Amino acid sequence: MIRWYRIFKNLDNAKKAVPLHHMQLIIAKGRKICLAHSNSGFHVVDDFCPHLGESLSKGNINFLNEIICPWHSYRFNLKTGEECQGRTPNLAVHQIKFDDTGFYVGIKD
Ligand code: FES
Repeated sequence: MIRWYRIFKNLDNAKKAVPLHHMQLIIAKGRKICLAHSNSGFHVVDDFCPHLGESLSKGNINFLNEIICPWHSYRFNLKTGEECQGRTPNLAVHQIKFDDTGFYVGIKD
């Protein structure tokens, strides 16, 4: 089941709060997630690196639309959650939707 959380009033507010190539840690019902703004748009993943648990929102985004962990530089595809060399289980990837009522992230239970 997916639970939707409204985190911004609209897409423009999201773009102002999280500019291109930036990330933001968000806590939705106690779960730490990372909102990333890459060349391919907004993505939401768990903020917990599947390797050893570093906070991914402290990392970077590269031109391949991967999030790079700040600790050991493992790279995760922001769409699929796959680590580029398959060294860890996949990073949990969540959903986004936006419309006239707001900008939402959808977290799987
Ligand atoms: S903790 Fe993220 S790559 Fe090691």
